[in-house]
Amino acid sequence: RLAYVNGSFVPHAHAVIHIEDRGNQFSDAVYEVWGVIDGELTDFDGHLKRLDRSLSELRIRRPMTDKALASILFRMVEVNRIRNGLIYLQISRGTARRDHVFPTDTVPPSIMITAKSMSPEKAEARAQKGIAVITQKDIRWGRRDIKTVSLLPNALAKQAAKEAGAAECWMIDPDGFITEGSAANAWIVTKDGVLVTRPATNDILNGITRRIIFDLASREGLTFEERAFTRDEALAAREAFITSATSFLTPVVEIDGNPVGNGHPGSLSLQLRKSYVATAK
Ligand code: PDD
Repeated sequence: RLAYVNGSFVPHAHAVIHIEDRGNQFSDAVYEVWGVIDGELTDFDGHLKRLDRSLSELRIRRPMTDKALASILFRMVEVNRIRNGLIYLQISRGTARRDHVFPTDTVPPSIMITAKSMSPEKAEARAQKGIAVITQKDIRWGRRDIKTVSLLPNALAKQAAKEAGAAECWMIDPDGFITEGSAANAWIVTKDGVLVTRPATNDILNGITRRIIFDLASREGLTFEERAFTRDEALAAREAFITSATSFLTPVVEIDGNPVGNGHPGSLSLQLRKSYVATAK
């Protein structure tokens, strides 16, 4: 297995970043995750655009042109023979003696890329069964729209879910509204068949998969609304699901131990998952 680090393809076991990398010391780094379906990176441009936005919001320099980056990303899929899985990319502000203040412009950003295979059969079986989620207070910072590697609250939330026998944790803002999952956007389908997900403000990551689902929903004549919803509303919903580059669309059948709808994956959810997988290729 090969990784890409600061200009070279290197064996994964020997791929290292300096101890004074700012990603390590300050979470001063952004990342992107592309899903791979049948050897193709999904929603390629959408993720690249969001990466550009994350970098410019934090004023981290782009290490190379989009064209150069694209060719490295495609190469990573090839050399690692990824049919289904993901490509992970991280760019930090670079390596410098520890100081909270940004280093000078002569310090180049660090870039690292890894690839991982995942079983599509396992993911499909999981989706057909549906997953359980728990809910917890959202303790993250105020710029969740930037895809930074500052993921400790997300890791704690996901671990709490795992220890509760669930697959995700939906986080709740101080006003009682669900923001999103630890690594995926949160959706419900109301009793009237309306898809609901939170608007893309600073409170959530504007998921690329989330946006593709909007397109698919419009194409299929479904109605959707971008608005915040509460845990109670989710418990009363007909269906619920999560979206992300790695899980695509996965139905939620249980929230905090209570069944959603009839306790089985909803038909709209499964229909949209199918459309997503078909168009993402
Ligand atoms: N996570 N919200 C959060 C907090 C996320 O971390 C992610 C993605 C999403 C969904 O975004 P997208 O549809 O663009 O993948 C929403 C990635 C997969 C991860 O951290 O591994």
